[in-house]
Amino acid sequence: MHLMQLQIRNFRNLREVDFEPVEGVNLITGKNASGKTSLLEAIYYLSHVRSFRTQHVTDLIHRNSEQLQVFARVFTDSNHELPLGIRRSRKKLEVRANRQTVRRVADITSQFPVQAIHPDSYKLITGSPSQRRQYMDWGVFHVEHGFFQAWQRYKKALSQRNAALKSKQNDAFCVLWDNELGQTASYIDDMRKSYLLALQPYLQTLIHLFFPDYEVAVVYKRGWSDEYELPDLLIKELKKDRFKGFTQYGPHRAELSIRVDGQSAQTGISRGQQKVLVALLRLAQAQQFMESTGRHCVLLYDDLAAELDSQHREKILSVLAGMKAQLFLTAIEPDQIDLSNWPLKKMFHVEQGWLKDLI
Ligand SMILES: Nc1ncnc2c1ncn2[C@@H]1O[C@H](COP(=O)(O)OP(=O)(O)OP(=O)(O)O)[C@@H](O)[C@H]1O
Ligand SMILES: [Mg+2]
Repeated sequence: MHLMQLQIRNFRNLREVDFEPVEGVNLITGKNASGKTSLLEAIYYLSHVRSFRTQHVTDLIHRNSEQLQVFARVFTDSNHELPLGIRRSRKKLEVRANRQTVRRVADITSQFPVQAIHPDSYKLITGSPSQRRQYMDWGVFHVEHGFFQAWQRYKKALSQRNAALKSKQNDAFCVLWDNELGQTASYIDDMRKSYLLALQPYLQTLIHLFFPDYEVAVVYKRGWSDEYELPDLLIKELKKDRFKGFTQYGPHRAELSIRVDGQSAQTGISRGQQKVLVALLRLAQAQQFMESTGRHCVLLYDDLAAELDSQHREKILSVLAGMKAQLFLTAIEPDQIDLSNWPLKKMFHVEQGWLKDLI
């Protein structure tokens, strides 16, 4: 799929932006604070119904406005036009797909898969395990049907068990959800495991290209000991769970451990290397998604030129050009990015929140 048309209203400093990107590469240039990241953020927001920069919707709505709006016409992989739209005020969220109200965020996300790489992306390596779970689950969600429902069931049972633990209910009450947790946990674990197995060849090929002298391992840890079935472990640890007031083990505690030459990538490589590695993690995911489903996704790459040295930049651009994803890049100056690898390209320029076509 790709975006055919985008209308943005009152999204950060973008008061009124209408544009028609091409299916290949779209380069958005402009000075600092012109609105480049905001434009990518608006596309991401339409897909994820959250931002990659903030958790507060008030940050996203233009300061002098009541609500933001992002509307898109998407050309789907089954060759039809799909209108998607979001309207968000400080109090209310409305999401529509095909002129129908969408009740679950997952329904818009699944129709419009978007991957973003931006200056804070390195936090995927340095940040908390939840960021790496989110990374892994993007892929599981888009590739394995049934994951979303299993995860919803697991989350519901987990929050009920945690509420029981916190309110100091008796043992018999606290274990009521253990079977449901056990069943959904083993399903989630199986899906994550098989997804990561499928992802590894894509990841290792890219890693070999960019880090030929290093051994990079991405190891999945399921969130509880391999020695136990989850329900048995929950019984064994019940006393401690009750003391702590929450469930210590399960897929909500899963982790992706990223190691470079045996050392944690959090401390063992430079910030620049972390940025490259995160870009590779996301690109591998996009490649695997496209090849395993036969669908396409949209890639957003913010500030590519500012983030990478010229050698890495060229290599990343050639990987991007080899992918069949619609791409949105930002740069301060157009000559920072060599678009010669793309037959289909368009350039845009943003100035104080207003966009104009260059080519
Ligand atoms: N809610 C908001 N309402 C109005 N303007 C906002 C809002 N949130 C942020 N801005 C402003 O939007 C402008 C554009 O920010 P953005 O991060 O998109 O710029 P940019 O072009 O990516 O800049 P840089 O090159 O520095 O990364 C900034 O001046 C910022 O202060
Ligand atoms: Mg920016």
